[in-house]
Amino acid sequence: MRISSLRLQLLAWVVLPLAGLATINLWTSHRSALATADLVTDRMLLGSARAIAEQVAIVDGVLDATVPPAAIEMFDTGDRDSVYYHVETAGGRLLTGYPDLPEDTRQPSVEAVYRDQALRLLTFSHAVVGAGPDSPITVTVGVTMAGHDAMVKRLWLSAFAQQLALVAIAGIFVLLGLRRGLAPLIRLRDAVRSPRRSDLDPIEVPGAQSEIRPLIDALNAYMERVRAQMAAQRRFIANAAHQLRTPLALLSTQASYALRETVPDARQEALVALQTSSGKLARLAEQLLTLSRAEPGSRRPRADHVDLTEAARHVLETHAPIAIGRNIDLGLEEAGPVPVIGDGTMLREMIVNLVDNALRYTRAGGSVTVKLAATDGEAVLTVDDDGPGIPADERDHVFERFYRIVGSTEEGSGLGLAIVREVVENAGGRVTLGDGATGGLVVEVKLPLA
Ligand SMILES: Nc1ncnc2c1ncn2[C@@H]1O[C@H](COP(=O)(O)OP(=O)(O)O)[C@@H](O)[C@H]1O
Ligand SMILES: [Mg+2]
Repeated sequence: MRISSLRLQLLAWVVLPLAGLATINLWTSHRSALATADLVTDRMLLGSARAIAEQVAIVDGVLDATVPPAAIEMFDTGDRDSVYYHVETAGGRLLTGYPDLPEDTRQPSVEAVYRDQALRLLTFSHAVVGAGPDSPITVTVGVTMAGHDAMVKRLWLSAFAQQLALVAIAGIFVLLGLRRGLAPLIRLRDAVRSPRRSDLDPIEVPGAQSEIRPLIDALNAYMERVRAQMAAQRRFIANAAHQLRTPLALLSTQASYALRETVPDARQEALVALQTSSGKLARLAEQLLTLSRAEPGSRRPRADHVDLTEAARHVLETHAPIAIGRNIDLGLEEAGPVPVIGDGTMLREMIVNLVDNALRYTRAGGSVTVKLAATDGEAVLTVDDDGPGIPADERDHVFERFYRIVGSTEEGSGLGLAIVREVVENAGGRVTLGDGATGGLVVEVKLPLA
């Protein structure tokens, strides 16, 4: 059974062992109550026997044993005990009392059975001056156990009550302590829940114990991260909207222009321009979508087996018309499959962005080469062009979202390299920019081999 309440758990941990201890203690206290009652009864028996013995004397030449009432009455404790006694001479002659009462000279007293009752019994011997061979006399006194047992019960009950009180008090203190101890946690809960809290402000819980502090700190650190992420998200959306606004305005202008145009050829031209613009817009939307999908935590990371060579070949095929259009020598250098694990669509999109950049920023008539290799357990993809390259001090920035190098004349949104980095890092790899042999840019992507 699992107890999910902290209160009950602690209570169980404190009260159950305590109750166990109390039980053991009850057993020992029963024994000690018994020992006490035995001792008290023995003292009374001895006192009674002495009192009787002292009254035995020679009266008119005969041994006389008159039992003083006090010797019997001292057992009258309200428990209706019966007292038995007898007094005998040294020769075994009964002077007074019950003749068949057993005798036992052992000290302390013993328990015996007489007339079907349990007795505590004690025999005391006493010398009587002038009694001759009749001395010493023996006095035996026995008493039933009611008083004795009542005493045991009373002693034991009071011990029991004390133990019970102790366990109950411990339980109450545990609950009180918990209530005090848990108060900061409850305040923390209320602070987190409070509708007045705005913008994930750090939570303050005054009086929180050192065990709870780390929880609050972790919570605050977590909220700080979420806040940073939310801010980045907001910036991204603002940027995206801004990026979409310009081409949309252009599209609208081109549409009205086409509508106004009456000369078929000119109208045709305007419509072609419109189509080109909407294609670019679609591409931008696609990039935004890719980026949002590549965002960590946006969807379950996929682990496809992807052949990078195959993916690159496919991308080169789709981009061949552009290369031909700009008279660029677009080539692939490969030596067989390069298997990696990752999201197939994303990896392809990554290659698309690299090839797209290379084709875009290389002058007409230049060359772009995509190379694939599997070396030292790593998949290496390089895209080499002979364009202007990227200055060293810009190389960190070009990976930022929406970042474009000032003066970039080509159309673009600044998302391409951001997508590349996001995808590569998601697949556990890294991307670096370098100088090409002929002065252009070399982008090198390294991924773990499958
Ligand atoms: N192959 C390249 N050669 C030269 N400059 C490049 C190349 N690729 C990217 N850049 C520079 O890096 C910037 C960021 O690239 P990217 O993120 O793809 O955005 P975009 O291409 O939309 O401008 C570009 O504006 C461009 O100036
Ligand atoms: Mg680009």
